[in-house]
Amino acid sequence: MNRPSPSPDHRRVRPFHAVYFEIVSGCNARCAYCHSGVQRVARMRFVETAVFRASLQRLLTAQAIAPGTVISLYNWGEPLLHPRLPELVGVIDELRLRYAISTNASRPLAASPALVRNLDHLIFSMPGFSQAAYDRIHGFVFPEIVRNIEGMLRDCRAHGFRGRGVISYHVYRFNVAELRAAERFADRLRLEFNPYFAILNHWWELNAYRQDQLPPERRAEAERDLFTLDGMAAALAAAPKAGYRCPQNDYLVLDENGRIVTCCQIARDHPDFACGSALHDDIPALLRRRTRQPVCAECIGSGLAHYLNTALRRPDFYRPSLRQRIMHLKTRLQRVLKRIGRN
Ligand SMILES: C[S@@+](CC[C@H](N)C(=O)[O-])C[C@H]1O[C@@H](n2cnc3c(N)ncnc32)[C@H](O)[C@@H]1O
Ligand code: SF4
Ligand code: SF4
Repeated sequence: MNRPSPSPDHRRVRPFHAVYFEIVSGCNARCAYCHSGVQRVARMRFVETAVFRASLQRLLTAQAIAPGTVISLYNWGEPLLHPRLPELVGVIDELRLRYAISTNASRPLAASPALVRNLDHLIFSMPGFSQAAYDRIHGFVFPEIVRNIEGMLRDCRAHGFRGRGVISYHVYRFNVAELRAAERFADRLRLEFNPYFAILNHWWELNAYRQDQLPPERRAEAERDLFTLDGMAAALAAAPKAGYRCPQNDYLVLDENGRIVTCCQIARDHPDFACGSALHDDIPALLRRRTRQPVCAECIGSGLAHYLNTALRRPDFYRPSLRQRIMHLKTRLQRVLKRIGRN
């Protein structure tokens, strides 16, 4: 049967404001509650420069992104392990895009004016502020990480970086007492301090947990460390389901092969991880397919989608320092101005 071709409106794509492009398929850290730290990939893959360029060019042509869009160069991997990062940043410049990094700070960034020109923001993920915390989560030598963060910021700023620097502090039960020391470090370096509860960032384990099928030792360990499993069953039961629109649909995520990924929550080894190729497939059709992935019905129906979209909360007990309050106000103002500029 012949079907009428879709109307131009039906095919129209609005540019995404949050875009994640995985440039490295794995990580060197051992984070106990991140999929990449628990299930280390056998062989790390790095995005090819040609794949990176062609995928972004096709997204630009389809208007899924626009000049100035910030491309975050990570999803489940550690971006600073990419051996040809300056080449990728060259593509960002060529296509008049901007970029962001979130890093465990184990590998210093070799800053240069070309590297920082389009760097929008730089996030340092921290699992605490002591060697004991690093031993439990990342597995790195804490004083080295501190030196790397200081060095990266100093070099980036010396080469003209004026964007936001942020510490994403993952709050576990065992690192609450280290919050103030981490905040003082952020204040001293003029970094935004963003503490939020760590989650069980592992699709399979989270599913097993909600179905009461996680091995007892692992369950006990996770409940000992994470706040976000408290009351999870009640949160899942109370989650909105019928008609729930998953906010993940507002983010565009690509893997290192230029495939469009369902969302940044789903595991790399899930059958519905990706829904097609930004290099070869029709992008408007692909984006429509993405919102109808079979996994999403189950995820929304179980309440997991709502849980995942609301669990990354800031602790009520955190009271920001004066410097942090000023920085947060400044950031909020900049966001409003940016939004006004876009409309
Ligand atoms: C999977 S990481 C990949 C990028 C980089 N390796 C890093 O850790 O920043 C992507 C984002 O997830 C966040 N993240 C990782 N594990 C988390 C957890 N257990 N709970 C909450 N956020 C987490 C990180 O802070 C980071 O911004
Ligand atoms: S959170 Fe980041 S640093 Fe930790 S294992 Fe996952 S990808 Fe690596
Ligand atoms: S419903 Fe679940 S799997 Fe689907 S996009 Fe949302 S969080 Fe991801």
